[in-house]
Amino acid sequence: MPSSPDIQKSFHLTTFGCQMNEHDSERMKGMLHSLGYSEAPEREQADLILFNTCSIRETADSRFVAHLGQAKRLKREDPERVIGVGGCWAQSVKDEVFERFPFVDVAFGPGQVHKLAEFLTSDSLSAQGYFEFEGFTGSLPAHRERPFQGWLQISVGCNCRCSYCIVPSTRGREVSRPFADLVAEARSMAADGVKEITLLGQNVNSYGRDLRAEGGPRSFAELLRAVDEVEGIERIRYTSPHPKDMREDVIRAHAELPSLCEHIHLPLQSGSSRILKAMRRTYDRERYLDRVALIREHVPDVALSTDIIVGFPGETEADFQETLEVAEQVGYDSAFTFIFSPRRGTEAAEMTAEAVPHPEKVRRLEALVQVIQRHAQERAARFVGRTVEVLVEGPSRTDPEKLRGRTRHNKVVNFAGLAAPGEMALVEIASATSQTLAGEETLLARAGG
Ligand code: SAH
Ligand code: SF4
Ligand code: F3S
Repeated sequence: MPSSPDIQKSFHLTTFGCQMNEHDSERMKGMLHSLGYSEAPEREQADLILFNTCSIRETADSRFVAHLGQAKRLKREDPERVIGVGGCWAQSVKDEVFERFPFVDVAFGPGQVHKLAEFLTSDSLSAQGYFEFEGFTGSLPAHRERPFQGWLQISVGCNCRCSYCIVPSTRGREVSRPFADLVAEARSMAADGVKEITLLGQNVNSYGRDLRAEGGPRSFAELLRAVDEVEGIERIRYTSPHPKDMREDVIRAHAELPSLCEHIHLPLQSGSSRILKAMRRTYDRERYLDRVALIREHVPDVALSTDIIVGFPGETEADFQETLEVAEQVGYDSAFTFIFSPRRGTEAAEMTAEAVPHPEKVRRLEALVQVIQRHAQERAARFVGRTVEVLVEGPSRTDPEKLRGRTRHNKVVNFAGLAAPGEMALVEIASATSQTLAGEETLLARAGG
């Protein structure tokens, strides 16, 4: 696309999917700003219409395809517009994108965000697809949504083979970023005003095993330690760890490192060892519960969250009851619950003979959500009467007179107060629902920051 120096081009980017995609989108935006593009508030006004897609479940696909219909119409109105599709869905269908959606000009997988710049600055107008696995978007400039919160991508890809999951095929083999680069990036984020860092990877606690160049493998716990030492970083979070790699050093780090938050997202997927085996999760129910016990031993007040899938092929009522039992036993602070969705190219998608009927999947989901909600409510109630540190994110979504922020336990708090976004406020909690806390800022003493 030839770029005119006189007229500033604009882009509009819609992001679907997980934090990986949110992070990649920040990098895309950073890159587009450095190419002289401005961000258009509406898709209709943009010269460049971009989508960063997800394919984790069927609903993700269908949601995106509906948006693409609008892009098609806009392209028909103005054929000069450029339509780009990036991310996991693009990767999973590759060049088929252009056959199915001929109005798409450029398509690229998650490992190819930087190629977007190449395409935009080249003179070629023909449709192009980029689907190699290479490079880290982490090395591109970022445009952060909130200046005080930042993502640090520590690895790309996934070496697990969870039988239901499309991610290994869309993001490729696991590659860790060099330790020294990550520490340097954490320092530069802190210098930019970032207070809260979230370390990102599909399986963060397997970080570093593949590193050879810097004198051998490094561990995730070592990385946590190094980031904790960075001046200015007050909170560290990470997502997602894998229960199979949740070792004591990482658990201890939660008790020992001042900035590492008291929240662990530990994906369960199923409470039945038989189903876990069919899912190829490589841990069983006992091992999972043992990890939870070790976490609670070192960090008694920890908030635990999880991901659970119901209706995996072959899941019997007895298997499902085991999932309910684990949910009762652990008592999660929150959970993401999903209905199994067959994904193209995955092992579990072939298990059609054992498929659980859809109405049964829905029934199980509803029963599970009830148990999850009950515990979430109980767990949240323990904060009532406590004064907690809240990183202020902005105005409350429900009441603009109030503020909204997050506690170290990752609970959203709506509260009356005077603190500015990016500040740490001390909030006395007056009430709690399963989802959010409410209270008032204590103005007597401001939390550090
Ligand atoms: N790497 C992360 C998961 C990323 S996907 C991890 O292992 O924790 C986020 C969640 O989506 C998964 O934890 C799983 O619960 C759910 N999920 C993945 N594939 C799915 C499928 N085919 N059907 C339903 N849920 C799925
Ligand atoms: Fe998917 Fe499993 Fe890898 Fe998570 S660990 S991304 S669920 S294959
Ligand atoms: Fe994330 Fe969706 Fe890809 S959940 S890794 S964007 S398939």
